Amino acid sequence: MEQKTKITGDIHYVGVNDRKSPLFEGLWPLPYGVSYNSYLIVDEMVALIDTVEICYFEEYILKIKKILGSRPIDYLIINHMEPDHSGSIRLIKEQYPNIIIVGNKQTFGMVEGFYGVTGEQYLVGDGDFLKLGKHHLRFYMTPMVHWPETMMTYEETTETIFSGDAFGTFGALNGGFIDSKINVSIYWDEMVRYYSNIVGKYGSPVQRALTKLADVKLSNICSTHGPVWTQKENIDKVVSIYNDLSLYNAKEGVVIIYGTMYGNTEAMAEEIALELSEQGIKDIVLHNANKSDASYIIADVFRYKGLIVGSPTYNGQVYPRVEALLSDILLRDIKNRYLGYFGSFSWASAAVKRMGDFVTKSKFELVADPIEMKHAMKPINYDQCSHLAKSMADRLKKDSK
Ligand code: FEO
Repeated sequence: MEQKTKITGDIHYVGVNDRKSPLFEGLWPLPYGVSYNSYLIVDEMVALIDTVEICYFEEYILKIKKILGSRPIDYLIINHMEPDHSGSIRLIKEQYPNIIIVGNKQTFGMVEGFYGVTGEQYLVGDGDFLKLGKHHLRFYMTPMVHWPETMMTYEETTETIFSGDAFGTFGALNGGFIDSKINVSIYWDEMVRYYSNIVGKYGSPVQRALTKLADVKLSNICSTHGPVWTQKENIDKVVSIYNDLSLYNAKEGVVIIYGTMYGNTEAMAEEIALELSEQGIKDIVLHNANKSDASYIIADVFRYKGLIVGSPTYNGQVYPRVEALLSDILLRDIKNRYLGYFGSFSWASAAVKRMGDFVTKSKFELVADPIEMKHAMKPINYDQCSHLAKSMADRLKKDSK
């Protein structure tokens, strides 16, 4: 019977799909689910690369045993210790007591700390090799993509990179796991949302990892989440998405984030968006902070060069949902954005003044002075909103000249 788990040669996919969890890391919605990918290389020596979330262990071990039968696994290679991948280490060790755990200096303390697993270990450093037979593994240390122990494993004969979370995406695998056998259209936006929310803070470490891989030939990308990428145009696209996002490159367009209680701050946002459109800006996204999930908003902040934020004054502060988003944006060290901001109040202004802290901390380039409205829209407020929008559009257009 043909083995449907095969990626290439003797490399198999043994991952699982999670269509049950509503949230990833307890925070990020999973409308399409998520996959936890693990891989098996069957050679003179057998290597398992990463594991899966513990609640999928039964399904996981069945997949492994279907390929190996009673044959043991020699090595468990741990590229990443976050529990969505390391969760089954203890149970794998129980099934295969003689398995040798392969990791770097940062890995083993986490293996013991999370799972109480000790035993034989194989310590690897940057550039080290491990020969399984005809397959040759080389290890690349890629710390802080996005944990300190993260590394990648490259199989030289098939030019396959086991990249950990790098090049990953949200979205369970529907049917096949190889890009050539499935419709991959849902994954591109989910890749941006995955990167910006999960890895987004670590642009510099991602850049260092990409530099390290610059001369490595990639015929297959086996990440821990999402499809196995084998088609040249997809591999180029995946690497380019990760490169652009980690450089904080963004396209011409504006994301407007606003909080609103009774529609007055929203009216300012609408007027700003209308004028942006009049000025020739086509990519404009408005997010009502009460309605849009933060993960989609953050993804759009990564996508577009322009950011305009609006908040009513609430208990003498910035509106709570907007405040939380500003903090989310700062946490990700996003760079090189153009910023405008506005607010409204009923009797005492505070939100606009307090948003000044965000301007200082973000180091984003302010395109115009902030604007503020008392009560509701009047002719002067329409003019102010238009002026803010025009300043943003002018700044964006300067870049495309
Ligand atoms: Fe998919 Fe950082 O774990």
